[in-house]
Amino acid sequence: MRLDKYISKALGLTRKEAKETIRRGEVQVNGEVVRKADFKVPEGAKVLVNGTLVEKRGHIYVMLNKPKGYLSTTERDKDYPSFLDLIPEYEHLKPFAAGRLDVDAEGFLLITTDGELAHRLTHPKWKVPKTYEVELEKPLSEEDIKKLQNREVVIEGKPVAVEKVELKEPNRVFLTISEGRFHIVKRLFKELGNKVVNLKRVAIGPIRLDSSLQEGEYRELTEEEIKKLKEAVNLL
Ligand code: URA
Repeated sequence: MRLDKYISKALGLTRKEAKETIRRGEVQVNGEVVRKADFKVPEGAKVLVNGTLVEKRGHIYVMLNKPKGYLSTTERDKDYPSFLDLIPEYEHLKPFAAGRLDVDAEGFLLITTDGELAHRLTHPKWKVPKTYEVELEKPLSEEDIKKLQNREVVIEGKPVAVEKVELKEPNRVFLTISEGRFHIVKRLFKELGNKVVNLKRVAIGPIRLDSSLQEGEYRELTEEEIKKLKEAVNLL
């Protein structure tokens, strides 16, 4: 890999910033200062920037149990912090969330630098199911459940792509949908004359939120989980 690419990946710099860092003589490869951006970094080389060893790494895939009150966007808002504030050690890599989660919703936020995977997980073409635990203001009737299962709830002229409905308590349900329109779960229940009072995403495609993660906690996905996600959207 070229040295400028290596540095930009490792430190989350733009290619231009990486080139400038190299030009300033701040980068050493195997003990020698290298000032050429197109220098080919040998496999296993020790690369230091300002005397600190940097590691080339590929994309990151982080599962965060987002608490309510955090935005799933990377821009800071005057009212709410971003999820980035919960994962400060990754911020320099410029990750983003694969799929929104409302500020008043909680649960599985998948954070990655892998644009292609994020795109496919959220694009309607790939129909990746997401499961939500939904608490409602009022109990769901048998008729509501049938309507959901039969995809009879229509929003903006299009039936909501409900895959599965599992009633846990009269007003608590696990709902799996394979689409991601804006506020779709809240709008779906509003159509049924009900109201979502708590919304938690518990699964994205084949990956479930790790139940050992407390609110605000996170971990990297395992190799196996990354593989399953990629397989779900034909990236492997
Ligand atoms: N549906 C919603 O209404 N909100 C979310 O955050 C996700 C799905």
